[in-house]
Amino acid sequence: MDKIIVHGGHSLAGTVNISGSKNSALPILAATLLTNDSCVIKRVPDLSDVHYMLQILAHLGAEVERASGVVTVKAEQVNSVAPYEIVRKMRASVCVLGPLLGREKEATVSLPGGCVIGDRPIDLHLRGFEALGAAVRVHGGNVKVFAPSLHGAPISLRGKFGTTVLGTDNVMMAAVLADGTTIIEDAACEPEVVDLANFLNKMGAKIEGAGSSRIVIEGVKELHGAEHEVIPDRIEAGTFLIAGAIAGKEVTINRVRSDHLTAVTDALRACGYGVGGTNGTLTIHANGIPEPLDLKTRPYPGFPTDMQAQMCALLSTAAGESSVTENIFPQRFVHVSELKRMGAKIELDGATAKIRGVDNLSGAPVMASDLRASAALILAGLLADGMTEINRVYHIDRGYEMIDQKLGELGAHIERVNGIVRGVSLRSIHKQIERPILRSYLCPGNAPSKLNYPEPEKNALML
Ligand code: EPU
Repeated sequence: MDKIIVHGGHSLAGTVNISGSKNSALPILAATLLTNDSCVIKRVPDLSDVHYMLQILAHLGAEVERASGVVTVKAEQVNSVAPYEIVRKMRASVCVLGPLLGREKEATVSLPGGCVIGDRPIDLHLRGFEALGAAVRVHGGNVKVFAPSLHGAPISLRGKFGTTVLGTDNVMMAAVLADGTTIIEDAACEPEVVDLANFLNKMGAKIEGAGSSRIVIEGVKELHGAEHEVIPDRIEAGTFLIAGAIAGKEVTINRVRSDHLTAVTDALRACGYGVGGTNGTLTIHANGIPEPLDLKTRPYPGFPTDMQAQMCALLSTAAGESSVTENIFPQRFVHVSELKRMGAKIELDGATAKIRGVDNLSGAPVMASDLRASAALILAGLLADGMTEINRVYHIDRGYEMIDQKLGELGAHIERVNGIVRGVSLRSIHKQIERPILRSYLCPGNAPSKLNYPEPEKNALML
């Protein structure tokens, strides 16, 4: 397994290019199953989660090619069963349910379990499918949805913790090929939902209102192929802004949508940092110790849960007491105990982390346990005295393209070690994946073993 070693105390300066959004790319790739024409998706980040999604598409019968961030998918014929061995690697696999139900009128997908950030039910997705006329059966760890035909319907996606992002995506993808009009109330407003709706509309769907809590979908008979460029990853962008706040002299993030980052830039300004920019760039200016902050995560346009761990790292050395309340995934605090091992003073009170700023963090061996928690530990390592050794970094390869390389180019002293996976370094695996991928490569069993990503332990990647 790889480790990332960070030697703290080196300041960052310069410009970093932000990659395409993981959480947009995954459902958009799933949506290519809705047509038997070719779809071309650009700016697809090189991440293990994307790799797993391409494996699933290939398993379902699609031909998949990839070269330099451009993925071409042609799903001329599809089968409708996604088994446990593939689905277990990534929770976002559930977003093949919607397109398969829309196209084939049936889908069987292994039911995702909980994960380290908490219970992850899909009841709202299933409620949406039922409203469209589908029956739902759960048996042997699989969920099967099927319908002789789908019909448009009014659907509310309000749950205990608000709406659902992938649930909105899934219902939208099933409803585009239903008879009649579907109205999704309490829809997720995240930019990734808008990106998916834009792609579906390019394929011939009739979707209005994406980005608001009411989405109206006029069903069409069929969709056709389309080309699309994925939006910038606002969570990667926010993570680099926090890196700039923690250790920067002046860090500029390039190729971003600043309108997608308002909640993050507002929080950083409230901590005393100057943030500004034009034309797809944002620069954060160093301003020493952050002011403390009371922060609550909320659905978009509120402060994203996917930035909560990174913000806890920043506030660990604030000049006073901060509080961070997690409203989306109340148990998403696995980073807290690791930050405490580095000297942070954090107490959990239910879903609130109470953080008393300390003067310094100290480097330590720490364990990454989910994607955003790993990012928080790298950020803390930039600031800490001495060396921080982050273990199990395959979590970070799920969602950050070359984070060590990008931080290194900004001046961080960071290295990846022990990157040996069955005789090949992860870096060389990344390079291999840039080459066109044949379907045989994506099919488990046919893949040359040297190209395999490391097998996660149970549930490790189910985020
Ligand atoms: N929920 C339900 N029932 C459902 C679905 C969700 O109760 O049927 C609850 C969840 O348990 C949670 C809340 O609703 O408390 C929101 O979950 P949501 O469904 O919106 O999460 P998701 O769609 O599964 C996506 C991102 C997550 C991100 C969340 C929230 C992808 C692939 N994943 O997950 O990203 O945290 O939205 O914004 O888009 C990450 O990138 O690190 C990550 C975890």
